[in-house]
Amino acid sequence: MKIAITGKGGVGKTTLTALLAQIYAVAGRQVLAVDADPSPCLAGALGFPDDLRSQLSPVAEMDQLIEERTGAKPGQIGGFFTLNPRVDDIPDRFSVLHRGVRLLEMGSVDIGGSGCICPESAMLKTLFTHLLFRKDDVLLLDMYAGVEHLGRATVDFVDAMLIVVEPTRRSLGTAAQIKKLAIDIGLEKLWIVGNKIKNSEEIEFLKTQTPGLPVLGVMNADLGVQEADRLGVAVYDYVPSLRQSGIEISEKIDQMINGN
Ligand SMILES: Nc1ncnc2c1ncn2[C@@H]1O[C@H](COP(=O)(O)OP(=O)(O)OP(=O)(O)O)[C@@H](O)[C@H]1O
Ligand SMILES: [Mg+2]
Repeated sequence: MKIAITGKGGVGKTTLTALLAQIYAVAGRQVLAVDADPSPCLAGALGFPDDLRSQLSPVAEMDQLIEERTGAKPGQIGGFFTLNPRVDDIPDRFSVLHRGVRLLEMGSVDIGGSGCICPESAMLKTLFTHLLFRKDDVLLLDMYAGVEHLGRATVDFVDAMLIVVEPTRRSLGTAAQIKKLAIDIGLEKLWIVGNKIKNSEEIEFLKTQTPGLPVLGVMNADLGVQEADRLGVAVYDYVPSLRQSGIEISEKIDQMINGN
């Protein structure tokens, strides 16, 4: 099962990815979580201890590896480099495992097209496609805001995309843009997850103002999320209300994808 999590900046994509990752791991599934944000913070939301976090760095920033695999230095424009470097060893070699969640930091990827033709983008595109082909039990992609960077490969292999929204018109406006782009590239399984909800009026607002997409679930606004961040512990452990919402959302995902 492969799920991409997207939405406007700051809405809670990383929080939801971390919750789902831990929930599936606790359920005995093998989870690969991929942080595709240029400034990674999924390790923090998962409560990875410092010694493990220090072993992680985004593949996008591994200049030596990129040069070794593509034959050219990152940042170089023009010249020759391979467009399909070897990447199959990267997910296992550069990820770390903690409480059943394997985490890989990738850095931002532009799969969609307009990105630069340079060694690092060749490396990331190949790696991204490889991740989509891998037979991981559960693959969760914590995407950079928006979908412009998603290409056809994503559509063919991602089972669903969750769009996280706050109960604001702005956040729903971004969701509408994401929906349009996603539908343009053929992605149909798109669901909304509401976050930072304070009352039932806000749930109602989301349901009536959603850009024609089903609301899969909601998570309450809870100051515990920020506290967990300050303390460096997992939202899953520290914020019971979000853990419960995450479990309900994961059950809905299973229902929608597998019909069980
Ligand atoms: N349910 C919640 N209640 C209260 N605060 C929350 C909740 N969910 C997320 N936050 C807070 O909102 C901020 C953004 O959350 P998060 O990092 O998960 O969002 P994001 O969409 O991944 O952001 P970015 O676009 O920067 O990657 C964080 O400070 C987080 O603590
Ligand atoms: Mg994030």
